[in-house]
Amino acid sequence: MRVQVANHPLIAHKLTYLRDERTDSPTFRRLTEELVTLLAYEATRSVRVEPFAINTPVSPTTGIKLSTPKPLVVPILRAGLGMLEGMVRLLPSAEVGFLGMQRNEETLEAITYANRLPDDLSGRQCYVLDPMLATGGTLAMSIQYLVNRGADDITAVTLLCAPEGIEALEDQLEGLHVPVTLVTGAIDERLNEKGYIVPGLGDAGDRLYGVV
Ligand code: URA
Repeated sequence: MRVQVANHPLIAHKLTYLRDERTDSPTFRRLTEELVTLLAYEATRSVRVEPFAINTPVSPTTGIKLSTPKPLVVPILRAGLGMLEGMVRLLPSAEVGFLGMQRNEETLEAITYANRLPDDLSGRQCYVLDPMLATGGTLAMSIQYLVNRGADDITAVTLLCAPEGIEALEDQLEGLHVPVTLVTGAIDERLNEKGYIVPGLGDAGDRLYGVV
């Protein structure tokens, strides 16, 4: 797995406000969108393209356009939904599939409770959105799910990661025949005993949408 930390002062600045406990939900949602748009720029560096012939007002030329099949963006419900708008702003022609994964707060294991995805993902590049890579369970399960349906290139986009989560993801994806890239805003210090990233930003879903 290729891990890419998007080092940029604007990303660090927005992340700092996102982490701040005084930041309210509307601001948190706006910052998340802005951050994802910046991360999406990095994450789509290897998006597949094909030549595209056009005429400018001056002469014919050949540029490029996104290849078909178009990329699939998959937010992991619920917190990944907060990242969708920022991602499709850069990739407006992408299709969107949904995957509902939740972790059991006692065992910290991920379970699938919803799925709205094309059955056949053969030859598809997929962008999985999940703000927090904590234990790695949800992301590993989501990636495996997409690969089982034929996806052949996966990029996971996260706001924050715990080192333990990256290691666990690497272990769980060992032997996978499909290239996986992880693009993140920062790698934090550690996971605490409750599975929260430290210093982190708390529960991303709650901060986006409130405690329900
Ligand atoms: N999920 C979150 O929302 N926050 C964490 O710190 C870890 C997992």
